[in-house]
Amino acid sequence: MSSLLIKNGTVVTATDRYQADIYVEGETIAMIGAELDLSADREIDAYGCYLFPGGIDAHTHMELPFMGTKASDTFETGTLAGLHGGTTTIIDFAIQTQGESLESALQDWHRKADGHAVGDYAFHCAVTDFNDDTRKEIPHIIKEHGINSFKVFMAYKGFLMVDDRQMFELMEELVEHGGIITTHCENGDMVDRNIEKNLAAGNTSPKYHVLSRPAICEAEAAGRAIDLAHQSGCSLYIVHTTCEESLNRVKQATFRNQKVHVETCIQYLLLDESEYFKEGFEGAKVVMSPPLRKKKDQEALWAGINQNLIHHVATDHCPFCMDQKAMGKDDFSKIPNGAPGIENRFELLYSEGVVKGRIGLNKFVEMTSTGAAKIFGLFPRKGTIAIGSDADIIIFDPVAKHTISAETHHMNVDYNPYEGWEVQGKARTTILRGTVAIDDGEAFVGEGFGKYLKRPPFDPNH
Ligand code: URP
Ligand code: ZN
Ligand code: ZN
Repeated sequence: MSSLLIKNGTVVTATDRYQADIYVEGETIAMIGAELDLSADREIDAYGCYLFPGGIDAHTHMELPFMGTKASDTFETGTLAGLHGGTTTIIDFAIQTQGESLESALQDWHRKADGHAVGDYAFHCAVTDFNDDTRKEIPHIIKEHGINSFKVFMAYKGFLMVDDRQMFELMEELVEHGGIITTHCENGDMVDRNIEKNLAAGNTSPKYHVLSRPAICEAEAAGRAIDLAHQSGCSLYIVHTTCEESLNRVKQATFRNQKVHVETCIQYLLLDESEYFKEGFEGAKVVMSPPLRKKKDQEALWAGINQNLIHHVATDHCPFCMDQKAMGKDDFSKIPNGAPGIENRFELLYSEGVVKGRIGLNKFVEMTSTGAAKIFGLFPRKGTIAIGSDADIIIFDPVAKHTISAETHHMNVDYNPYEGWEVQGKARTTILRGTVAIDDGEAFVGEGFGKYLKRPPFDPNH
């Protein structure tokens, strides 16, 4: 079994920060201590660096077939880009095609990921067609596939959206078998009507994307999901929360002692709706659903992190190249929804969050890995630095500066929403299960290195 000794770094978890050496045997952490007097096959000096748990991004869409095209990162390119940026594990969505089974969606996703992903991966199962056959599949998916999280879309009417009856019955089923529901919250009918009216009025440019999907449309759906989850007793995780109005619904639920798990994404913290009002077709780069919001919403999200209302900062990584975005040149509703982010999430949250004093170091770790690991049953294998945990460790240089650019990123997409942004802090070395995967920008692992992660039934006490 090979061994690795990381010396002189500062270990940071969601709760602690201390100077220590880490000794790794095989794929896991064997020892943590001050000035460990051990020899190893390889020794790395991490002086001046933080040792963070490997990042977990609980919301990605690699190779997602969507809106007449396909997300441009494969499991290989997307997870490799993640490793470059300090993310060692993703949870991607295996999405049911309406009329087909959940099992067939999972087979599809395994076909895309197994033997191809470079980083570790798990799946959420997205239910787009809940009926008696789907219902019967749930226990098997939880027990045999090791999937405890089931997503529903409350929007994308006609191809992904479920109605309230389906969502409620799925919740009941999950309570019985140990699952958590995750919801894309937007009122699909309201969105559809707004799009219809805008197109009828000749409003076709990207700015009408945000104008068709106001915050109320998200908050109404979030409130509905929260109420149905409360009534059914099902645990709930709201994906890609963008606005103050949605957070207010979450806050309201705490008054009846309902815990709602909340995710936001890095773009909602850092970018705002003015992007859609730029000249020409620029706004298409950030056409995603829900859309970017106002500056006051960014403030509410940062506050929500510090108030423990938000548990994870993900990316919703779903990249499309500009020729794909051009499908909506004359009709904003045909612009494939989604944007890249997996490679930059970790450093951006550090640079804009920690360096700028918006969040502390422990919060940074909670948001980038521990929170998601606990909710989705990966903890303590992933999401922390502890004896027995997978040796997923980011040696992070907190002072290194660089400029984000599509010219140098590793994601398979021809633009970067953060083009030209100067960030402070960089993942210098990414270690995945004890193997140095990336060092100083060079990759030492390749296609197929990633492992599929089975997860136990949902534990509401974590
Ligand atoms: O615009 C987005 N978010 N695209 C990916 C699918 C989804 O809604 O998460
Ligand atoms: Zn979504
Ligand atoms: Zn998504």
